[in-house]
Amino acid sequence: MKQSVKLVAGNWKMNGLGASLDEVETLKAALAEEASACRVALCPPATLVERMAAICAGGPVEVGGQDCRAEASGAFTGDIAASMLKDAGATLVILGHSERRQGYGETNALVLAKAEAAVAAGLSPIICVGETLAQREAGQAVEVVREQVIHSLPLALAGQAFAVAYEPVWAIGTGLTPTLEQIEEVHRAVRAAMIERLGLGGAEQPILYGGSVKPDNARDILSTPEVGGALVGGASLKAADFLQIIRAA
Ligand code: PGA
Repeated sequence: MKQSVKLVAGNWKMNGLGASLDEVETLKAALAEEASACRVALCPPATLVERMAAICAGGPVEVGGQDCRAEASGAFTGDIAASMLKDAGATLVILGHSERRQGYGETNALVLAKAEAAVAAGLSPIICVGETLAQREAGQAVEVVREQVIHSLPLALAGQAFAVAYEPVWAIGTGLTPTLEQIEEVHRAVRAAMIERLGLGGAEQPILYGGSVKPDNARDILSTPEVGGALVGGASLKAADFLQIIRAA
């Protein structure tokens, strides 16, 4: 099956102040010297989206949000709409990260509604799925992830640019990763579920792997069949580490 160009996206989570934008300047300067073979994105906290987008304007680094509200506007104190991220210069948004599914009780239905809002605002969603350790140990990883894909992806994604990120919950921030065989098995199941849900509209959009991607394991992970990129947390905070992962793609 034809694969679209790989996407290496960094998720800064709740890390980063204005001074951290120095890392983005370093990344930008390095990428100006060497043509990267993949798409590169960074998703900083909402407070930095506009400043990061200004630094990255016209260059290869795309900027994204880490979440958005499903509603377009209204009395939702503390929340942010997809159109606001777009207005600040974002082109992407991470949705359904396990830290939000687990910490805020986000359901597949809510993630689906947020993805519809993102597409309506002109953002490309990166929709996260992944099993817990208990689910993996019970032999349920493939079925859990399939269910999440089927119920989190709106039909409106067919024909749109988007990505699915497979992030085993037990691999995030732990230094643990599945074997390459396990990654391939789940990515193949994600692809089948995307096609089941969206038909040909689910055949080519990249499936990212996320969870403890580091400079020393990136090349193996990124060359695994059906791995269309990486969603990188901790190792995206420092330009030097993130660049090594980009170069491995
Ligand atoms: P990690 O986080 O790379 O720090 O494990 C990945 C993620 O949560 O997207």
